[in-house]
Amino acid sequence: MKKYFVLLGSLVVFACAPAQKEKPKPAEVPKSVPQAKVEGKRHTFEDDIKQDEGQKLCSNPQGTVSADMVEKFFQEQKRLIKYPPDGKLVGDWKKGEQLFSNPRKGNCYACHCADPKELACGNIGPVLRHYGQRQHDVKYTYEKIYNSWAYVPCSIMYRAGVHGILTPQEIADIVAYLHSPESPVNK
Ligand code: HEC
Repeated sequence: MKKYFVLLGSLVVFACAPAQKEKPKPAEVPKSVPQAKVEGKRHTFEDDIKQDEGQKLCSNPQGTVSADMVEKFFQEQKRLIKYPPDGKLVGDWKKGEQLFSNPRKGNCYACHCADPKELACGNIGPVLRHYGQRQHDVKYTYEKIYNSWAYVPCSIMYRAGVHGILTPQEIADIVAYLHSPESPVNK
């Protein structure tokens, strides 16, 4: 009889053990989006809400960039573009692949489908599949990613380089991902 109770007791302990392990975890605090350091300065909230001239124009409810302003707008946006120190606009496509689908970095896949294996891509932007076989030169692609407004005024596509979210080197890596014949985008 005593033996029976000991056995029953150990069964109860055993049955409770997994339940104890599954204690609810405290909610994870989402990490902030890492930002590349803009010219060595720390980014503050005040910096982020300050609008530059282009942003003021693009958020004007009376009308945005009129036809006669477009040329000047493009010139001003082009002036904001910086290039990698070594001048190479095409980097490492494998690194570019990671950046493209990292929601904390490029987050490009949120709007663009490019690799057929990526099923969770968004369709706000044009499909970039076989992008390397189109007639775009790498300078255009680099500048478009650094500052999309240098080609389409007030585009919904964020200005990755202007806002310091991607460094010139990281943008060059994404250029390689879009152009390289080895990249899954062009296979
Ligand atoms: C919020 C959505 C959005 C995000 C995020 C976004 N894009 Fe775009 N992208 C667009 C839209 C919309 C267009 C078309 C209008 C334009 O050219 O600005 C576009 C256009 C482009 C073009 C030009 C295509 C062509 O044929 O000329 C390229 C290249 C491009 N995006 C690459 C990227 C890359 C690389 C990233 C990530 C660093 C990215 N986009 C992030 C929305 C987005």
